[in-house]
Amino acid sequence: MVKTTTQAADLIPDDSEIDRLRDDLLSWYRQNRRDLPWRRTRDPYRILVSEVMLQQTQVDRVIPKYHAFLERFPDFKALAEAPAADVIREWSGLGYNRRAVNLQRTAQAVIERHGGVMPRDPQELLDLPGIGPYTAGAIACFAYERDVGFFDTNIRRVLHRVFFGPELPRERVTTRELQTVADAIVPAGQGYEWNQALMELGALICTARKPACLTCPVQTDCRAFPTIQSVIAALPKGTRKKNEAPFEGSTRYYRGRTIAALRELDDDQSLDLLALGPRVRDDFSDEHLAWLQGLVNDLARDGLAQIAEERADYDPGEPGSLRVRLP
Ligand code: ADE
Repeated sequence: MVKTTTQAADLIPDDSEIDRLRDDLLSWYRQNRRDLPWRRTRDPYRILVSEVMLQQTQVDRVIPKYHAFLERFPDFKALAEAPAADVIREWSGLGYNRRAVNLQRTAQAVIERHGGVMPRDPQELLDLPGIGPYTAGAIACFAYERDVGFFDTNIRRVLHRVFFGPELPRERVTTRELQTVADAIVPAGQGYEWNQALMELGALICTARKPACLTCPVQTDCRAFPTIQSVIAALPKGTRKKNEAPFEGSTRYYRGRTIAALRELDDDQSLDLLALGPRVRDDFSDEHLAWLQGLVNDLARDGLAQIAEERADYDPGEPGSLRVRLP
């Protein structure tokens, strides 16, 4: 029954099948949903913070950071006006620090362009810095309960399997095709629960490598169900999972170590590259100076570090004299 046509509209089952799929998934969700803090609020600021944190970090790690972040920056204004260094410090433990800088830029734009009120319309949301199609959809739906379709990796995987079949390398489904399906299946008036349910299914049952198909509430409606286990068994083993700690020695690893070292400083402190170097790599020597300077410049460009050029003996031709701190 797997169709390989690119006409996504053809893949949407008839009304009675869709109704059954909706009923099955929603009743499973009502019985199995986790009590997560961001499901107890519709406050757009809180939804935004949770969604940005959840983009690349597991739920268990996000929960304590979510509470601490909201305690420290309770609303758009508090976040927009905070020193960037404080926001980066509060982000520690979540990784992908650029998200913290982008989140603060979003808050500043909400204050400056929208008088501190998050827009409701997905298109207006998309115009904000740091907001892509997924986050725009998530805010429209989870904060304003609008019946919109959208997907992150989890929802994408669920939709792909249910409507298109197993993810096969040579049969790529386009984002547009998935969007057509995502929009068509949202039940009117129940978009909030529906999208949370899709997400929950992707997190608890329809996982990437070990889907629990035998206990899946939508197995009878799933085009991947008959073959997905054998497709997964045939995948090459040992590929690194996403979200794991960055590979030691990778640029992301060293960027993380640099930010960790800068976080340790007091507000009025900075480090020169010779002092920073050994905190970033154990084998640091003078020959790494130019490399470290490049790394620091990239962090500064991303808003994660500040070059403190004001030091009296700063000499751009002398990398050791360059000083750096959080922005
Ligand atoms: N991941 C992203 N958004 C989420 C949500 N609202 N609930 C659980 N996991 C999520």
